[in-house]
Amino acid sequence: MARAPLDCLAMVDTDSAPGAVTVGLLGCGTVGSGVITLLRDNAEAIASRLGTPLRTGPVAVRDPSHERDVAVQGLTTDAQTVVDDPEVDVVCEVMGGIDPARELITGALERGKAVVTANKELVSTLGPELFALAGAKGTRLEFEAAVAGAIPIIRPLRESLAGDRVRRVLGILNGTTNFILTRMTEEGIGFDLALGEAQRLGYAEADPTADVDAFDAAQKAAIVASLAFDQHVVADDVYREGISAVTATDIALARRMGYVIKLLAIAEIDDGGRISVRVHPALVPVSHPLASVREAFNAVFVEGEAVGELMFYGRGAGSLPTASAVVGDLVSAARSTLRAERAPAMDGWPHAALEPFEDTLGQFFILLDVVDAPGVLAAVAGVFGSCDVSIKSVWQEGRQDHAQLLLITHAAVERNVQTTLRRLRELDHIQDVASVIRVEGGEL
Ligand code: NAP
Ligand code: HSE
Repeated sequence: MARAPLDCLAMVDTDSAPGAVTVGLLGCGTVGSGVITLLRDNAEAIASRLGTPLRTGPVAVRDPSHERDVAVQGLTTDAQTVVDDPEVDVVCEVMGGIDPARELITGALERGKAVVTANKELVSTLGPELFALAGAKGTRLEFEAAVAGAIPIIRPLRESLAGDRVRRVLGILNGTTNFILTRMTEEGIGFDLALGEAQRLGYAEADPTADVDAFDAAQKAAIVASLAFDQHVVADDVYREGISAVTATDIALARRMGYVIKLLAIAEIDDGGRISVRVHPALVPVSHPLASVREAFNAVFVEGEAVGELMFYGRGAGSLPTASAVVGDLVSAARSTLRAERAPAMDGWPHAALEPFEDTLGQFFILLDVVDAPGVLAAVAGVFGSCDVSIKSVWQEGRQDHAQLLLITHAAVERNVQTTLRRLRELDHIQDVASVIRVEGGEL
């Protein structure tokens, strides 16, 4: 059925209509204030789509005297009262962190209330216990905004692709690092300068560790991998490397070879059912759809057996974009509360059978500072050969004491590449292994 334009939707008195579903909020910061704005501004459209109004109930904050972007009624500093309130049907957790969010969400699920959260840290750490509790209580825990902010990716993986087998997901899941790498690529500046700009523009926090060292992306990768392969993966399972070692030289050389450097989250399953989940900087061919994702945007590239390739693109953060994903979940949770429906099962999944990281296959970009002397290239090539790592291309710049060798390998086993690097460092004419960056989206 065609959807009615917003101004043609039935008028519903969203405050007084009987059977309204009430949302209690835990937090009213960047995301929470966006949620309240959308529930207010789109109230009629939401009521028409849901069949009943979705109303904002009590809102817990830490300090009611903080200035907020929206006028809020029903502020409380006692978050437990939001969970306990018998009028609250759905609890929306947008406070962040593990404690007290864990206890509050557990309390809400115990009471059979549906919960919507944007909290990737919590879902990627305690997902298995929370989903088990939601399943046992016949209710649901929704978390669309926890990965890639505004982009609908949780529901497509969980529901739209339920009839397919996902083989691989590649994602740019952190906007701050994508902004930094974009600036380094387009302006030729170094990491520190680009980070400073990200901080000035409000993308990066004063302490940028969670973004720059890829903790944030690893949490999101764990959630994506769990949904892609129906097995629980937690953040600690994810191999993680941040972007602070990526240099302007790496980026310039990669560009010359036809690649851009991105912080990629990768989740894949092999034919034996072993899962590999990792987050690290990677060279991506300029022709790959992810290469054109610039600034603070996020994107998720999904490869399924039947569906082929899919790409989801959009804003990974921000008040209204993230709130859009949260409110979508609230409508879905309210709908199932009204119909007493269960969520698609996420309880009872096994912990993922993870492929040891040393067994994974990957292509590599390796930059060596060398002395340019007869026999050096032969010695380098000999090390690669003896470790069963095949070289795809070699390129040299500079002369005498200031030469650099850039090698790109064919797909090789991680363990063999690490042995190669160890042996290269022992060679007389190798001054430094300056950079080692994986290559994705190519021959694998
Ligand atoms: P935020 O701006 O810091 O807001 C947090 C809110 O929670 C504030 O209203 C704060 O109260 C309240 N709060 C914190 N601790 C509390 C406590 N113990 N009791 C009661 N209230 C408490 O955070 P945010 O950026 O909105 O992020 C919220 C969640 O969304 C996080 O899990 C984050 O990872 C996730 N997320 C955020 C974005 C984004 O673009 N910001 C995108 C995707 C996902 P006060 O206002 O009084 O300080
Ligand atoms: N710090 C995150 C980012 C915000 O830069 O993508 C959304 O999770």
